[in-house]
Amino acid sequence: MARILITSAIPYINGIKHLGNLVGSQLPADLFARYQRGRGNEVMYLCATDEHGTPAELAAAKAGKPVAEYCAEMHGVQADIATRFGLSFDHFGRSSSPQNHKLTQHLAVKLFENGLIEERAETQMYSPTDGRFLPDRYIEGTCPNCGYESARGDQCDNCTKQLDPIDLINPRSTVSGATDLEMRETKHLYLLQSKMKDQLEEWIDTREGWPLLTTSIAKKWLTDGDGLQDRGITRDLNWGIPVQFDGAPWSGMDGKVFYVWFDAPIEYIACALEWVEAGKGTDWERWWCTDKGASDVTYVQFMGKDNVPFHTLSFPATILGSEEPWKLVDFIKSFNYLNYDGGQFSTSRGRGVFMDQALEILPADYWRWWLLSHAPESSDSEFTWDNFQASVNKDLADVLGNFVSRVTKFCRSKFSEAVPQGGAYGAQEQAVIDELSTRIRAYEAHMEAMEVRKAAQELRAIWVAGNEYLQSAAPWATFKEDPVQAAAQVRLGLNLIRLYAVLSAPFIPFASAQMLTAMGVEDAQWPGDVAEALSALPASHAFTVPDNLFRKITDDEREDWQARFAGVRT
Ligand code: 2FM
Ligand code: ZN
Repeated sequence: MARILITSAIPYINGIKHLGNLVGSQLPADLFARYQRGRGNEVMYLCATDEHGTPAELAAAKAGKPVAEYCAEMHGVQADIATRFGLSFDHFGRSSSPQNHKLTQHLAVKLFENGLIEERAETQMYSPTDGRFLPDRYIEGTCPNCGYESARGDQCDNCTKQLDPIDLINPRSTVSGATDLEMRETKHLYLLQSKMKDQLEEWIDTREGWPLLTTSIAKKWLTDGDGLQDRGITRDLNWGIPVQFDGAPWSGMDGKVFYVWFDAPIEYIACALEWVEAGKGTDWERWWCTDKGASDVTYVQFMGKDNVPFHTLSFPATILGSEEPWKLVDFIKSFNYLNYDGGQFSTSRGRGVFMDQALEILPADYWRWWLLSHAPESSDSEFTWDNFQASVNKDLADVLGNFVSRVTKFCRSKFSEAVPQGGAYGAQEQAVIDELSTRIRAYEAHMEAMEVRKAAQELRAIWVAGNEYLQSAAPWATFKEDPVQAAAQVRLGLNLIRLYAVLSAPFIPFASAQMLTAMGVEDAQWPGDVAEALSALPASHAFTVPDNLFRKITDDEREDWQARFAGVRT
C-alpha cells in the first residue's frame, strides 16, 4: 500500500472562493485523493485557510469585526462549503493555529542559525497618530503619474504604475486618515534566497515528469533572477505570527509579524499537527519527517499557476534551508486559469459564480463534473453557460443517468427488484468487457499521471460503452423472444452500474454513493479483472431503482442563470 500526501493551495480567508479557484487546486486534489483511496492507498489530504496578511485585516475591518473573530467565522463558512462540495480533506486547518505559529517561528530560527535570514535596516512610513509603521497598502495618496487621488502605496489602481509610498503626493494613513506621516528607520528580516539559487536550480532540474507549466514558471523565476531575490519576510501588521517571541535570536521586532507567504506553506505541515490535536490521528511525523517514515511518502501539491513560484522556490528554500529532515514535494500539479463567460473570474470585483451560489442552483456533482472535465490544464479554459448546459445534459443526464434509469426500471418491470439469473454472457457481453478492460487501464494511467481532462474523457467513454451495449443488446426486444438472454443482459447492466459507481466516485462522489446504495452494495472495491468485477452482483441480489441521478438544465434556466450571474456579487 502506497502512502500519498496531498495538499492543495490554502485559500485566503477573505471571502468565499469562486469556481476558478476551486478547479485550480482543491477540486483536482480531491479527485486525486479519492482516486488514491479508491485504489486502496493510504492518503493524507490536507488543506486550510490562509488567514494572515493585509487582505484578512482589511476584510475584517470591512465586516466590522475583530480580525480573529472574522477569521474563525469565515473558516467555518469555508469548511461547510467544502464539505458540501464533497472535498474530502483529512483535515481542514487554519494558518493562524498555534501549531503554525510555533512551527513558523521554529523554522525562522533555523534559517537564521544557518545564515539564511538576516536583519536589514530600512526607512519606512510611520504614523505617529496610529502609533505604527504602515505597510504599503495602508497608505493612500495622489498618484504622481496620473493624478488619481486614491492610489495605494504599492500601486496605482488607475494607471497600474507600481509605486513606492514615498512617491505619493499628500500621503495619508488608511487606518486613521492621518496625514502627519514621516519616514522612520526600522528593521526587517530577509530570507536570503539568492544564496540558495544553485541548490534550488539543481533540485528543479532533476525533477522528472513534472508538468511543463510548473517547471517553466520555476525556471523563469530562477533565470530572470527576479524570484530569487532576497525577500523581506516580515511586515508591520497586528494580525499574524509575531516575529518577536521568547527565544528569538533578534530583538527590536515588536509589532511585526511574518509575511503571509512565509507562514502559509508552513501550514501544510502544521495542519498535520492540527489533525493530531483534533483527535483524527496520532502520528503526523510519518507523513512529514523523512527520518520518521516520510521518505516512503509520495507528496503531491496542487495549485494555480500564480502560486508556482512560492512552491517551487520559496517554500523549498525554507525546507532545504532549515537543514532539517522535512519531506519535500515530489510532484507539483499546477493549473492555468479558468475564465468566466468572456472575462475573468474576480473575487475583488465579485465576478463569476462563487461556491455557495453554485450549490444554491445545482448539486455539487454537476459542478464537479463540468469543472474537472474542463480543467485548465494545457491552457486557460472558459466557463460558459451554454457549454455547462451541454455537458451536464449530455454526459450526466443522457449518458450516465439515463443508463442507470433504463436498466433498473426495465429490470423492475420485467423481472423484479433483484438481479435476474439469465444465461451466460455471450459474445456481445465479452466485447464490452474487453473494451472496458482497455479503457479502465487507460483511465487509471491518466489518473496516476494527474491528467484530469484525459481521465474525464476516458470515464465518459466508459459510460458510453455501457450505453451503446444496452442500445444494441436491447433487452426490451430480446425479452420477447428470449427472456433468459434478456435476463443476462440486464444482469450485466446492473453490474455495470456498480462498476460505474466505483470508477466515477472521484469525479461525482454523491451520485456514486447513490448508485451504490441503490445497488445494495458496500463493496466499492476498485476493479482488477473486469469480467470478475462485472459478476460482483450475483443472481437474486436485491437492488432498488434510484431517483433520477441527474436532471437536465433547461434553456430557460440557462438564460436565467446567465443573466443572474452576469453582474457583480455584492
Ligand atoms: O493564492 C492563494 O489563494 C494563496 N492563499 C495560496 C497559498 S498556498 C500556500 F502557500 F499555502
Ligand atoms: Zn496613477
